[in-house]
Amino acid sequence: MSLLPALLLFLHLLAAAFWVGGMATMHFAVRPAAVAHLEPPLRLPFMAAALSRFFVGVSTAIGVLLASGLLLVWAAGGFARVHWSVHAMFTLGLVMMALFLHLRFAPYPRLLRAVAAGQWPVAAANLNLIRKLVATNLTLGVLVFALAVVGRAL
Ligand code: HEM
Repeated sequence: MSLLPALLLFLHLLAAAFWVGGMATMHFAVRPAAVAHLEPPLRLPFMAAALSRFFVGVSTAIGVLLASGLLLVWAAGGFARVHWSVHAMFTLGLVMMALFLHLRFAPYPRLLRAVAAGQWPVAAANLNLIRKLVATNLTLGVLVFALAVVGRAL
């Protein structure tokens, strides 16, 4: 592999690791710890603040993933020339991005508004919806890793 595709793959893998690893950290460590140790008036603003910071990174990671992925496809000669696993990665990646855009622009702003108004049950309901969407994206992300790496051998 020459230098440019190697650099693109490096950026691609860094962005994928940040997004999928970040979702795992939020889902398996940050949220359960907040539920165990903080009451709703502290927990919900804390989770909103943690998500706000994480989502900036996810938006950046998505831009890098798409740009580097499409450039890698271009460098390989276009979609007609790449393995089926890249088509599957692209399709599932677009589904993951659509789910992120939905949670970023629907339940997340509702969570922020409810937290600002001190409406804890509304905030908790929206956070729960975000949790389910993140769990779905985490599952899809692991599937994409499996497809991208193991799928190449099939
Ligand atoms: C949505 C647009 C995406 C496009 C166009 C794309 C495209 C590509 C391409 C062309 C490669 C190089 C494949 C090869 O050299 O055989 C690649 C590698 C890879 N991609 Fe993606 N990808 C996308 C999204 C994702 C996502 C969302 C993830 C993970 C969450 C991901 C994880 C990986 C991994 C782990 C590899 C390394 C495979 C290997 O070299 O063994 N990609 N991607």
